[in-house]
Amino acid sequence: MSQRKYAYFVLILVLVLHAFSYSGEARQPFACDPANAVTRNLRFCKASLPIHVRVQDLIGRLTLQEKIKLLVNNAAPVERLGVNGYEWWSEALHGVSNTGPGVKFGGAFPGATSFPQVITTAASFNASLWEEIGRVVSEEGRAMYNGGAAGLTFWSPNVNILRDPRWGRCQETPGEDPHLVARYAVSYVKGLQGGGDRGNSRLKVAACCKHYTAYDLDDWNGFDRYHFNAKVSMQDLEDTYNVPFKACVVEGNVASVMCSYNQINGKPTCADPTLLRDTIRAQWHLNGYIVSDCDSVGVLFDQQHYTRFPEDAAAATIKAGLDLDCGPFLAIYTEQAVRTGKVSEVEINYALANTITVQMRLGMFDGPNGPYANLGPRDVCTPAHQQLALQAAREGMVLLKNIGRALPLSPQRHRTVAVIGPNSDATTTMIGNYAGVPCGYISPVQGIARYAKTVHQHGCMGVACPENQHFGLAEIAARHADATVLVMGLDQSIEAEAKDRVSLLLPGRQQELISRAAMASKGPVVLVLMSGGPIDVTFAKNDPRVSAIVWAGYPGQAGGAAIADVLFGTANPGGKLPMTWYPQDYVAKVSMANMDMRADPARHYPGRTYRFYKGPTVFPFGAGLSYTRFNQRLVSAPVTLSVPTLQYDLEGINSTTISTAMKKKAVRTIHTNCDSLDLNIHIDVKNIGDLDGTHTVLIFSTPPPGATFPEKQLVAFEKFHVVAGAQQRVMININACKHLSVADEYGIRRIFMGEHKIHVGDGFKHSITFQASKDEIKV
Ligand SMILES: *[C@@H]1O[C@H](CO)[C@@H](O)[C@H](O)[C@H]1NC(C)=O
Ligand SMILES: *[C@@H]1O[C@H](CO)[C@@H](O)[C@H](O)[C@H]1NC(C)=O
Repeated sequence: MSQRKYAYFVLILVLVLHAFSYSGEARQPFACDPANAVTRNLRFCKASLPIHVRVQDLIGRLTLQEKIKLLVNNAAPVERLGVNGYEWWSEALHGVSNTGPGVKFGGAFPGATSFPQVITTAASFNASLWEEIGRVVSEEGRAMYNGGAAGLTFWSPNVNILRDPRWGRCQETPGEDPHLVARYAVSYVKGLQGGGDRGNSRLKVAACCKHYTAYDLDDWNGFDRYHFNAKVSMQDLEDTYNVPFKACVVEGNVASVMCSYNQINGKPTCADPTLLRDTIRAQWHLNGYIVSDCDSVGVLFDQQHYTRFPEDAAAATIKAGLDLDCGPFLAIYTEQAVRTGKVSEVEINYALANTITVQMRLGMFDGPNGPYANLGPRDVCTPAHQQLALQAAREGMVLLKNIGRALPLSPQRHRTVAVIGPNSDATTTMIGNYAGVPCGYISPVQGIARYAKTVHQHGCMGVACPENQHFGLAEIAARHADATVLVMGLDQSIEAEAKDRVSLLLPGRQQELISRAAMASKGPVVLVLMSGGPIDVTFAKNDPRVSAIVWAGYPGQAGGAAIADVLFGTANPGGKLPMTWYPQDYVAKVSMANMDMRADPARHYPGRTYRFYKGPTVFPFGAGLSYTRFNQRLVSAPVTLSVPTLQYDLEGINSTTISTAMKKKAVRTIHTNCDSLDLNIHIDVKNIGDLDGTHTVLIFSTPPPGATFPEKQLVAFEKFHVVAGAQQRVMININACKHLSVADEYGIRRIFMGEHKIHVGDGFKHSITFQASKDEIKV
């Protein structure tokens, strides 16, 4: 055989094997099946026509009853047109997940790669990693779709701001900082949806940023998400809650946004035309569909009693801009709403155009072929994908304490390790919520066993840890081993969807177990914490017998391997906390129902997140040590910035919106030329320790003084690897409109003139003076 023929033969063989590998599983085309002679030549099936033409053709063929059955997640088939039913609800928060009915594991797809929970991945501060995970998840999602095991519309990611440390869903989010969450949203969505190489039209899968907006209370002290009316100021909405959603739509080109259960200022978000139609569609130009949270249309009628009649609730949501109901409500009540003139068929058509356009962009009306048709079971749980899950877990580990360089442990000196604690052999706990079935697990004790002989003691069964009768065995193990690793923390029985915490302390007698094992231990004591939300571990921070603390979050299927790699120095930790760790007395002072970000000293309200809270912390936002040390030095940055300004803007500032001192000192971002307001900052980072490591430069800014502005806020971050002894120069680009503007009390973004401070980490501060120049923009 010639080489060419041989290559050809191998190719055929591969294709044949490929076809075999999921025979019987492959789904029939969703629509436009070439085998269906009745429908294949319909105009909406012609892939050569523009999508909007095809969408209008299909909608034009539907009866009102058929249309109404397409307004819900479990969309009915339209058999006479060769269109199958479709389950819109699939999830892929950190791997393809069977939380929604659209995904089924089993058969050719026993599992999918389960990446760390989002809060852990966020701690890596590595935007390329977030995009890469999205790319891998969509690869597996497509493969599962081809095999009939998943949909193509994934209702992920969750980009709500982590406002309160008690929230049971902290784990699902990228943390408390709007810029960080926005970057995560954009990167993950880009990874999921694919390159956008064809003008952003084609979608690999459709992502969804949820839950819009100011949703971050599930069930706390008599408040629950189905009844909660979040009282949110325009300022907090603009500079905190909506930041990730705007970035997700405007920069990430996400194909969907989900509105939430809660009300905002007395209106359910899914029935609020200002939030949906005016903001997401008109201002941000969503190219996609707006979906309700599951049963939230029902909830706003049944539980919030927002309207008197159900057809009014249906009409209110569709008129507000909702396109798809997760739940049956719209399928039941919309026809009556149309018949009584409460909503028009034209408005139904508009909603359908938004959903069907996404299906067309996904290629669902293009028959069985397409750019992803070859993906199958062999593309799921590949070694490369599982390696990425391990890398993500390693990058997400946060080293919070390491006295006397107790870590890394050494396989030579620490031959026997006591592995203690209710999470020491965690498996499902490591994947958190909105997970799927992983390809496999490596638990912490299994991971540590790769480096040392282990003596394993649970200490307490389960994280609730109500009794101490086995603590003696843990003490004996610690007394005889060369090192003690305590794997403690939380799981879904403590923090979960529909379950907020009341306390920030470790549950039950965990603290006692840690202290007793630490007291008994012969060697160094390492506390590894698994949790989504922060834990008040002040006792361990202050206990000199606890040598090191590592926060592992929920580190995914390979979490135990990553923990061991960090403990034994195969990986040098570089993660940073994406949220403030408050002391327990913080939650005693603050009602979870208070949505204000800003402190109010008059009412003893301390404010929320590092941007506004100035009180004591257990560990601050951005905390995270390394086994090496870094020096940062500013090389260059501008000292002044000239802000071109419309004449009337400088003179005409409405005095009620800004204090007199600020009058004539701010420029609305829409009244300047934002493209000319890029700033470049060069920083040298030197690894002055003796180990290679990664460093994350965090750039914060402080605007000129003003009572309602953040103390400081993150405006950029950059992570890179520096070998021991080497130096690396980084260029950070920030834009004054995007990053250095602040929202006033009315939610209007302005750039303030005067001195802006740029902070590099906790280190040096640099001042840039902003001056308005009146002559550079013509009206
Ligand atoms: C100032 O702006 C606020 C909010 O937009 C408005 O309610 C008020 O009428 C304005 N006052 C003047 C004097 O224009
Ligand atoms: C960030 O993630 C990317 C993608 O996985 C990886 O190639 C890169 O090495 C990571 N960066 C650092 C500094 O670890």
